[in-house]
Amino acid sequence: MQRVGFVGWRGMVGSVLMERMRAEGDFAHITEPVFFSTSQAGQPGPDVGRGAQPLRDADSLDALAEMDVILSCQGGDYTKRVHPQLRARGWDGYWIDAASALRMAPESTIVLDPVNREVIDAALAAGRRDFVGGNCTVSLMLMAIGGLFRAGAVEWVSAMTYQAASGAGARNMRELLAQMDALHESVATQLADPGSAILEIDRGVTAAMRDSAFPTESFGVPLAGSLIPWIDTQLDNGQSREEWKGQAETNKILGIDPAAPLPIDGICVRIGAMRCHSQALTIKLARDLELDEIERLIAEANPWARVIPNERERTMRELSPAAVTGTLEVPVGRLRKMNLGSRYLSAFTVGDQLLWGAAEPLRRMLAILLA
Ligand code: HSE
Repeated sequence: MQRVGFVGWRGMVGSVLMERMRAEGDFAHITEPVFFSTSQAGQPGPDVGRGAQPLRDADSLDALAEMDVILSCQGGDYTKRVHPQLRARGWDGYWIDAASALRMAPESTIVLDPVNREVIDAALAAGRRDFVGGNCTVSLMLMAIGGLFRAGAVEWVSAMTYQAASGAGARNMRELLAQMDALHESVATQLADPGSAILEIDRGVTAAMRDSAFPTESFGVPLAGSLIPWIDTQLDNGQSREEWKGQAETNKILGIDPAAPLPIDGICVRIGAMRCHSQALTIKLARDLELDEIERLIAEANPWARVIPNERERTMRELSPAAVTGTLEVPVGRLRKMNLGSRYLSAFTVGDQLLWGAAEPLRRMLAILLA
């Protein structure tokens, strides 16, 4: 591959991608990395080992069309604006995208190569050119229990999610911290006094949370000290769009015939974690497998899925956003057969939403193209 253009490399997902590409030495495999900007064309770009080159205009179709690959973390509006125009003028390079805009298009492939390398290879062989990262909860769920799907052991999944602020964006992460700060501030004096009454403190916190001055510009409502049981837009069938993606994207990633989809559903909830999404899964097994076999299938599926024994101490220490954040590990624990019956399995999994949930599948797709 000669020229790879990067768009949106300075945003949150783009920055994580750049960090990972530097850490893995990926830039050494690119003949000419080209950095684009929607607002600062002409200014010096980043130095990825060949000196800083001027940024090119991300709205110039001529400049973009010179690329063999374009990797965009610029967001869905940019994709909707630029991608159709580039294709319409006959550009036949590879488009790798973090945004959801093209995900469900028939000509796009959702990339998560530790889980669907065969689907990716088949798409490449068929001349497909659009490769899109999956929704973060979907990708993290598949990294966690991909081994069960691969073994044909899953009849359906209910995924109840606990999603971090980062999934809503960088501003939302800041707002979560501002909310935490405002809550603390509202009762700082009483908190400093060990003799103060806890119910008094609680009243103060509740009043602060409900005050019109509480910072809720990004989330719309309090998240710190609370939660939000709705993520993304409302669909006519009662699902949120985030919940809809669970089944739609999982089936597409796994290459399952859409006429006979594997059912996946649940409730997606925003909680006050920074960048790790967690999920409580109820899995109806297609057949009655022993727990040992289930653990083996999960652990052997990829190098990042890690089974945490269903023990209190290890679960508390190793199966939380605090333990997982900033790492590529996808621990899976709380594995047990439920009271519901021997084919009903519970699981809990945690993963970094910015790594496997966003940047890493794109980085790896680019590496596949460059290999
Ligand atoms: N839609 C996800 C969220 C993030 O809001 O957490 C990206 O897939």
